[in-house]
Amino acid sequence: MSDTPDSAVQTVRGYIDQHRAAFLDDLVEWLRIPSVSAQPAHAPDVRRSAEWLTAKLRETGFPVAEVWETDGAPAVYAEWPSGDPDAPTVLVYGHHDVQPAAREDGWETDPFEPVVRGGRLYARGAADDKGQVFFHTLGVRAHLALTGRSAPAVNLKLLVEGEEESGSPHFRALVERHRDRLEADAVVVSDTGMWSETTPTVCTGLRGVADCEIELYGPDQDIHSGAFGGAVPNPATIAARLVAALHDENERVTIPGFYDGVEELTDSERALIAELPFDETSWLANASSYGTLGEAGYSTLERVWARPTAEVNGIGGGYQGPGGKTIVPASAQLKLSFRLVSGQDPYVIEAAVRDWVAARVPDGIRHKIAFGAPTRPCLTPLDHPALQAVVRSMSRAFDGAKIRFTREGGSGPAADLQDVLHAPVLFLGISVPSDGWHAPNEKVELDLLLKGVETAAHLWGDLAGALR
Ligand code: BES
Ligand code: MN
Ligand code: MN
Repeated sequence: MSDTPDSAVQTVRGYIDQHRAAFLDDLVEWLRIPSVSAQPAHAPDVRRSAEWLTAKLRETGFPVAEVWETDGAPAVYAEWPSGDPDAPTVLVYGHHDVQPAAREDGWETDPFEPVVRGGRLYARGAADDKGQVFFHTLGVRAHLALTGRSAPAVNLKLLVEGEEESGSPHFRALVERHRDRLEADAVVVSDTGMWSETTPTVCTGLRGVADCEIELYGPDQDIHSGAFGGAVPNPATIAARLVAALHDENERVTIPGFYDGVEELTDSERALIAELPFDETSWLANASSYGTLGEAGYSTLERVWARPTAEVNGIGGGYQGPGGKTIVPASAQLKLSFRLVSGQDPYVIEAAVRDWVAARVPDGIRHKIAFGAPTRPCLTPLDHPALQAVVRSMSRAFDGAKIRFTREGGSGPAADLQDVLHAPVLFLGISVPSDGWHAPNEKVELDLLLKGVETAAHLWGDLAGALR
């Protein structure tokens, strides 16, 4: 660690200090727009959010900033050419839609009325993902202040989608439609986090996800369980059997073929994970949980970052009201999701799940199974020089701290960008596990948000060198 930051670091910090108040005011204004993509009633707000961001990016200096339509919610695209014919091109990805939030879910203040308390900004989307998209606006301005340039050192592009929290159903088509304009030498995803406030890290991978809803139908209506029960199949029992059969005694998923092709961690990847100051008690506190349980032979971090899993997200059916009701219910429902890792194809998994369910549903029960649009897993190539540029920039922002590597267990459509654009994906995020993604009282740490600004300010120069 160096005590006296070099002059580049000081210039950037000076610029950020001057502009932080206006930056935060703007972010608060954006956070007030409840851009919940999952709820049809908020569709106009998602559009308003896209328009708000487009206008703000123009104000920031992006000569091109447009709302891009999809068959669902609109995305935002912006472009700031470097002017230098040899400059590489970088595409930043984020999303402007947010998870649903309501006061009664346990929010201490209105989720769409942002408040600053104790150096933290509380609002739905503060960390996931408006705050992390927004640090790029002040970031690029600080980059210009630092370099004295009138345009960034890279051709800077930004794609901010409006349906990420709904599984990005139209994202792949959008990227394919605009592949020429989106052309890039590297993608920077700002929708992940770091290890903690005191351990800055760069994420190097996301898992994929495939999810399904299963409906099981028994009798045409609820029937008397004494008159008929025990002699006809009960759909709720079958739902429970499916759930019970999903994992074996080692917590491995039992669906045939589920692990086929799964890329195992290398020894050096395992060593990187083991370098992190993992503490089960605080990890459990962030998980709001009271014990760990997972696949035998893997550590907790390996389980969430590098192993595929199956989760029951919801189970229902039959009578749920007060008192008893002696019936065989007419139907039961399951919502399942499968987190996927490199080497797994979501469509192969979908077929395997369909076969597995069909084979377990007895005569007399009909079933339907519907899958959402899958999200593929995505990994940064660890030996790519651009990764070192991210590490260097981040290290400057964090006073010379050693930057370690993580992955995330969550998902996002980064692999679509990687595949369609043939560009490596880098992750730059400053959110921390306690930020409460998708939870009540989501927040972002203001110090870290400004570290995001600071990292971005250094990044474009560093990447211009690394990608040439
Ligand atoms: N930003 C998250 C992904 C994420 C989660 C990154 C946790 C780091 C840690 C993203 O907005 C998200 O929530 N993705 C969903 C995708 C799903 C709706 C297809 C997820 O992971 O559940
Ligand atoms: Mn997100
Ligand atoms: Mn999210």
